[in-house]
This record gives sequence, structure tokens and C-alpha cells, in this order.
Amino acid sequence: MEKMELPPRPKLFDFHGVSMIHYFTDNWENIQNFQARPDDILIATYPKAGTTWVSYILDLLYFGQTAPERQASLPIYERVPFLESDFHILPPGTELADKLSTSPRLIKTHLPVQLVPKSFWEQNCRIVYMARNAKDNAVSYFHFDRMNQAHPEPGDWNNFLQRFMDGKMVFGSWYDHVTGWWEKKQTHSKILYLFYEDMVEDTGRELDRLCSFLGLSPSAEKKERVRRGAQFDTMKKNSMANYSTLPIMDFKISPFMRKGKVGDWKNHFTVAQSEQFDEDYKKKMKNTTLQFRTVV
Ligand code: PPS
Repeated sequence: MEKMELPPRPKLFDFHGVSMIHYFTDNWENIQNFQARPDDILIATYPKAGTTWVSYILDLLYFGQTAPERQASLPIYERVPFLESDFHILPPGTELADKLSTSPRLIKTHLPVQLVPKSFWEQNCRIVYMARNAKDNAVSYFHFDRMNQAHPEPGDWNNFLQRFMDGKMVFGSWYDHVTGWWEKKQTHSKILYLFYEDMVEDTGRELDRLCSFLGLSPSAEKKERVRRGAQFDTMKKNSMANYSTLPIMDFKISPFMRKGKVGDWKNHFTVAQSEQFDEDYKKKMKNTTLQFRTVV
């Protein structure tokens, strides 16, 4: 990993009612005016819900055989541009997406549903949303903020957890994000809502759901190749999938591919934290039919 002078950690601010940092708002005009194409596939998630996993699976499904050089030479964040990102060390996500020569274009976003550029809706693009249970999502986010210079300092775990519950995280409240997309899915047939826990439990089954949503019918061999290629241990070792090429992340603090498990929250939450979290969770999630599993 290249050494570089890192800018100070960014500060959170309110952006249309969502906590944000400037790296995701600096390019806002181009983001809002982004021209989606009908065959674009948007991969939408709250941060740390399994974005890279789904991105990698989709990339293998579409281009694993036709463009093997992509797998060997292009990091996942260039194959699947992060739409709202403008990190200055890479071209902005909108530019990377515009330059993509693939069809379909795979595009990643962490935006809450109400901030997604309108052309994705106008073009009726397919959207794959992946959600992860709040406790594991919070733990993964904590370790990510420890090692990622482009995010605010996480502080200690207890403070971080309180901020998570208050929705004062980059990309705002987990509760609003997962429920906002869930509500949208009820009236919009082009959204597939996946769960990280289901994917861990049976990747093959979820791959079938994904393929049927995308109108793909790969052979059993191809599906198995994709499933194996996207296994946690394989991706962790693959520098084109594990983010080790991005100098803003310090893997000595925590690797991007950290554990890839359901239930790691049990190693972080105290009993008191877990009880308080659950009580607050019930209140925040009382009006939704959305259900998560915290163990599999
Ligand atoms: S980001 O920065 O928001 O794009 O991060 P994201 O990719 O959404 O989430 C990272 C977490 O997903 C885990 N991950 C996986 N789990 C299981 N199998 C596979 N193949 C896989 N790939 C990524 C990754 O390890 C992070 O979770 P934690 O719990 O921190 O390990």
C-alpha cells in the first residue's frame, strides 16, 4: 500500500436531513443530474451491509467469463463505481460511471432512497438492495471508521453505538435507510431486497433469486463458479476485491474483509448495551413489517 499525506478526517454535517461528509456531497450537482441508462443496475446499501459482496457477485455473473482481464487488473471500486463518491484520489463516481464501457453498468450507492438521482427511477433501472441486521452492521461500521481516514473518527465503541442509534453516521440513520428502501420496494417491482444473513446462510439460494430478478439463467457450473469466487476467504485474498489498493484505509488497524460473519455483535455488545439497543430498536422499528435475524 502506497504511503500518502492524508487529509484530516472529515466532519459530519446535516445534508437534506441526512448526516453526511463532504466526500459524498462535493459532487452533488453531477450526482443529481446523473443520466442513468435503462439497463444500469444500481447496488444500494447502507454502508457495511455487504455492498462489495453483491458487487463482486454481479460483476462475476455478468463479466466473469467474457472479460477475465477485469478480474485480474481492475479493483472492484473501479468496476462498480461508487456513484456519490468524490475522494480526490480517484475520479468522482459519476465520471467513473460515465466512462464505463460495460453493458450493463453496475453502479454502487449508499444513498437513502429519497436522495437517489431521479433518472434511475425514470429509466426504471433494476436495483439490488442489500440490508444487514443493525447490530452486526454497527460493529462492522465501527471497525471501518477506525481504519478509514475518509470517515470521521469513531470514538470509543460505547459512544459510537449511541451515535448509531441517533442516526449520526455517514449516510444517516440505519433505521431510516433500511425502512425507506423497504417501503419503496412495496410499490416498485424493480427492487430486489436481499438480506446479508440470508446470503451467509445459503449463497446459492440467494444467487438463484438474484438471477431470476435479473433475468439471467446461468448454468449450474457458472453459478457454482460465481458462488465459490465470491466466498469470503477468496475475496479477502484477492487484492482486486479486498480494497487493499486504496491508501485511505489502514489494514493494520482493521482489514476491509474483517470477519464476514453473522452474530459477531455478541463479541462487542455488553448485555446492558444489547438490552438498551433492543428496547430502542423496538420503538424505532414499530411501524415497519421489515424483520431481521441477528443469528443464523
Ligand atoms: S462498504 O464500505 O460499505 O462498501 O462495505 P460493505 O462491502 O458493504 O461491507 C463490508 C462487510 O461485508 C463483509 N463481506 C463479506 N461477508 C461475507 N462474505 C463475503 N464474501 C463478504 N465480502 C464482504 C465484510 O467482511 C464486512 O463485514 P465485517 O463484519 O466487517 O467483516
